[in-house]
Amino acid sequence: MCGIVGYTGYRDAYNVVVNGLKRLEYRGYDSAGIVLEGENQKFNLKKIKGKVSNLEAISEGLKNTSHIGMGHTRWATHGVPSDRNSHPHLSNNGKIALIHNGIIENYDSIKIMLKGKGYVFHSDTDTEVLANFIQYFMEEIGKSFYEAIRAALNEVYGAYAICVMHEDEPGSFVVARLSSPLAIGLGDKEYFVASDASPFVEFTKEAIYLEDGHMAHISVENGVKIHQIKDNSAVDPQIQELKLSLEQIEKGGYEHFMLKEIFEQPKSIHDTMRGRILLDEGVIKMAGIWDNLERIQKAKRIIIIACGTSWHAGLIGEYLIEEFARIPVEVEYASEFRYRNPIITSDDVVIAISQSGETADTMAAIKLAKEKGAFVYGICNVIDSSISRITDAGSYTHAGPEIGVASTKAFTAQLTVLSLIALKIGKHNGSLNNTEFMQYLYELNAIPSKVQDVLESSHDIVKQIAKDFIDATNFIYLGRGYNFPGALEGALKLKEISYIHAEGYPAAEMKHGPIALIDENMPVAIIAPKQGHYDKVVSNVQEIKARKGKVIAIVNQGDTQVASMADYVIEFPETSECFSPILSAIPLQLLSYYIAVYRGANVDQPRNLAKSVTVE
Ligand code: F6R
Repeated sequence: MCGIVGYTGYRDAYNVVVNGLKRLEYRGYDSAGIVLEGENQKFNLKKIKGKVSNLEAISEGLKNTSHIGMGHTRWATHGVPSDRNSHPHLSNNGKIALIHNGIIENYDSIKIMLKGKGYVFHSDTDTEVLANFIQYFMEEIGKSFYEAIRAALNEVYGAYAICVMHEDEPGSFVVARLSSPLAIGLGDKEYFVASDASPFVEFTKEAIYLEDGHMAHISVENGVKIHQIKDNSAVDPQIQELKLSLEQIEKGGYEHFMLKEIFEQPKSIHDTMRGRILLDEGVIKMAGIWDNLERIQKAKRIIIIACGTSWHAGLIGEYLIEEFARIPVEVEYASEFRYRNPIITSDDVVIAISQSGETADTMAAIKLAKEKGAFVYGICNVIDSSISRITDAGSYTHAGPEIGVASTKAFTAQLTVLSLIALKIGKHNGSLNNTEFMQYLYELNAIPSKVQDVLESSHDIVKQIAKDFIDATNFIYLGRGYNFPGALEGALKLKEISYIHAEGYPAAEMKHGPIALIDENMPVAIIAPKQGHYDKVVSNVQEIKARKGKVIAIVNQGDTQVASMADYVIEFPETSECFSPILSAIPLQLLSYYIAVYRGANVDQPRNLAKSVTVE
């Protein structure tokens, strides 16, 4: 949801900002812009609709002209993607430049007030209103630049990570944060700001993650001074060491991040298990669960909240926890949960799942659950993300940075953590005996090598199959039990990157309506592992074939029954039914990837989407 980058120091600011924006393009790519402090302290500003590459094409002349500047890559909220709605935005006097990630919810009333005072607006954005609101506090109320920003922020509500420069305050900028992420990189006589640490990871390993309600004044001369926005009281910075490496955020020879991330899954799942599965001792070690075991075991109910792919992982989590730990589980879209006045008590445990750890809907739902006294456990991928910090306890997924907008390795890592949690609680509350527990533990431990197997055995076959579906306009995905959410996830992957309409259903629901859609033009991907109500799925496949649907069967290696009826067959290794969604996800990810690639779509940056959804 918009990426922001700022730099001050001794390097070419243009280079740092533009390269940084490219790393943040996963956050939005509707437009891009840059402002640098030029000669005579005048701003040099360029901005344009479209990607950072468009910006580069119009801003070559800014190379090596400045050591301080900032840039923005946009995911449009207020106002269509266009040159004039692109950031940075200037105030009416042209002296204040501002970039923003988030939404100023009360911008309209401020805009009306400012218009009444003669301010004019050149865009439809909430951001331009904030830039002018700061000018208003400086000119009409007589505040300093810094104090004017503070005053303006105390009047607005919504979400923001902002970086602001003033022509009369050369060599410095001011940043502030509320509900949108902002990291400050600390170098030697140089400072970086960005929506995440990826733009500065090769320059420094030290960073401060600005907290909600804090603002910072940054200059090479005076360093980083952090204060509370509310009362200007000073804040001691918490400096953290970055674990991120440059290699992790580069494509490493793959054509797209998505393909790289699909192929990373044996490692990302293994990393998620590392140090947690201790086979010799017969235990699962998870500090977050162990430290809160009593509270979690006593829960009358577990509520899982998440969005999108993470919500699909949550649905599988429901099956896992109910089966192994025998605690009732409900799974909710975070966005719905928060607005429907849910009944939550202090006996509830809420599990919030989020790859980015920044999703605004999930954040809001967590805040509500905490207000009502529930214990909130987070499952996040991004270390030190907002969700990981506001939850009471949690477990990281350790999948490494996921840059492709379509979630792949984060999903299978979430399933891994949920499996570990379910098994651990089940063992401790006695729902699973030791023999069962150990069987599942061995099986889970073998999953990374089985993922490697399915990647190797299915890659070429899936590539071939994808060619036959380039012109498909609809797709149906079916699965039963644990693989029903897997079908939903398969459909979501196809929709978001290839723009083909797709729906996922429990296979048995077909006959209650969707079967009317089946004809010779309807591709149906059906997940049919041996352990998952196989006989019933065989009947579902027969029903589809009787109506001439085109069946793509995702079956266990050596399957003959479903395979003999299917038009296309993709095999994956056998495992317990509860872990099969991890394996069946792989060929479905590859299928949507190749269909999208053959259709010429931008798989890493699909239209209208952004990786980190920090608006509600
Ligand atoms: C789909 C996808 C989205 C996210 C959703 C939640 O491929 O990536 O549906 O899963 O926006 O994001 P997180 O997990 O970051 O909270």
